[in-house]
Amino acid sequence: MIWVVKITFKVNGQPITLDVKPNELLINVLRDKLKLTGTKYVCGIGECGACTVLLDGEPILSCLTLAVDVNGKEVTTIEGISKNDELSEVQEAFMEEGAIQCGYCIPGFIIMSEYLLRINQKPTEEEIKEYLKGNLCRCTGYVNIIRAVKRASESRTTKTG
Ligand code: FES
Ligand code: FES
Repeated sequence: MIWVVKITFKVNGQPITLDVKPNELLINVLRDKLKLTGTKYVCGIGECGACTVLLDGEPILSCLTLAVDVNGKEVTTIEGISKNDELSEVQEAFMEEGAIQCGYCIPGFIIMSEYLLRINQKPTEEEIKEYLKGNLCRCTGYVNIIRAVKRASESRTTKTG
């Protein structure tokens, strides 16, 4: 008999109830069971940040998080960042600044950048680097990514004054 646990949680605002194995990782539930493949699996050991999602609004690595630990909580993935099929300012800024190449790392960068701009609307370059230091990109280099976060910050501050 395979031991399973029933968990209930929200993903991008939608309530979900699922049976999971006690050792099942959140990333596998998101990608394989819920088909939310925007969250990327790269290193699987907490080194690259590609699998970052928000859990009750705080960034976590879904490759190091057991699915049973999200019971009763709310998960936001990259699919929940755009609203009504409209890209967020951060997503727009990444495109405008050419901060995307293969795109594999980008969901993690976007989630971390969204979090940063929520807690600090006008981060300095040093603060951006500090917040994104756990996210690795093999393609773009980091200059355009940092520029994109600054651009999103400026566009938000202009809108909100
Ligand atoms: S896949 Fe989770 S940190 Fe790399
Ligand atoms: S865009 Fe390819 S790994 Fe970052």
